[in-house]
Amino acid sequence: MTPEDSPQPGSAQASYEGNDQAILDEVVFRVRDLSCYYGDVEAVRNVSMDIIEREITAMVGPSGCGKTTVLRCFNRMNDLIEGARAQGMLLFKGVDLYDTRVDPVEVRRRIGMVFQKPNPFPKSIFDNIAYGPRISKTTRNKKELEGVVESSLRQAALWDEVKDRLGDSAMGLSGGQQQRLCIARTIATSPDVLLMDEPCSALDPIATAYIEELMHNLKQNYTIIIVTHNMQQAARISDRTAFFTAEVDLEKHYRYGVLVEFDDTEKIFSNPSDERTESYVTGRFG
Ligand SMILES: Nc1ncnc2c1ncn2[C@@H]1O[C@H](COP(=O)(O)OP(=O)(O)OP(=O)(O)O)[C@@H](O)[C@H]1O
Ligand SMILES: [Mg+2]
Repeated sequence: MTPEDSPQPGSAQASYEGNDQAILDEVVFRVRDLSCYYGDVEAVRNVSMDIIEREITAMVGPSGCGKTTVLRCFNRMNDLIEGARAQGMLLFKGVDLYDTRVDPVEVRRRIGMVFQKPNPFPKSIFDNIAYGPRISKTTRNKKELEGVVESSLRQAALWDEVKDRLGDSAMGLSGGQQQRLCIARTIATSPDVLLMDEPCSALDPIATAYIEELMHNLKQNYTIIIVTHNMQQAARISDRTAFFTAEVDLEKHYRYGVLVEFDDTEKIFSNPSDERTESYVTGRFG
């Protein structure tokens, strides 16, 4: 994406409310009436939300309500799934992410993703982190590349544990270390946003606490969106929470996901507006 890729006159942005400059400045993603389809099947209907810079936004809700589907829209990962398509408006810093002139590869560099199951490449620890900078040729020489590897591992709170064995295979790390490696690998390409899909679900409570602390620190430099099934985790680490659920189309007999409520995390967990949210966050449903 280049600065020239600003919204076109008459684009969706102009026709929506909330375009006050002060708000827009801190809105990283502006989502309006986003619906997602797999083939003809509507998986998510009419999602609208603003993601604010340097905040942690949590997406919660029962299985199958479309959290991963929406998360994947934020870096056009759905493009890689045959038949998947998004409809509606999704602006990233004022630019329509789905504009034909936007390069999806560049989108995925600026909006990185960490998956549920740590997925290190079968390469050395060093080569895992160096992978992105090497491909995008963002470092000019070996020394610079080494600097990026070190700073990425430091930001992911892994440096001290691996600095003496950077040449060892990443597959030899523990699950929690592998997940931090994957976070470091994502950071190494200097993204603006980190998308995380249940990043702790394969980890024990100690490794989970590590990742949560890490996210808290990363928030100073990155905007983070996390999908989690762990309500305590959402309540502990996020600034805002989006609660999704599945509704049934009675005519066509299929389920689709909707965003029920999106608010400050404190409000969602202490005084939600919708009783479906309350039932879910208090554990009475889902
Ligand atoms: N690649 C795909 N092809 C077809 N349908 C899909 C695909 N991925 C997801 N779906 C469907 O879209 C709907 C939403 O799925 P999604 O994975 O986004 O839910 P989720 O909220 O992330 O669930 P979970 O909490 O179990 O991860 C489901 O009905 C699912 O079957
Ligand atoms: Mg999911």
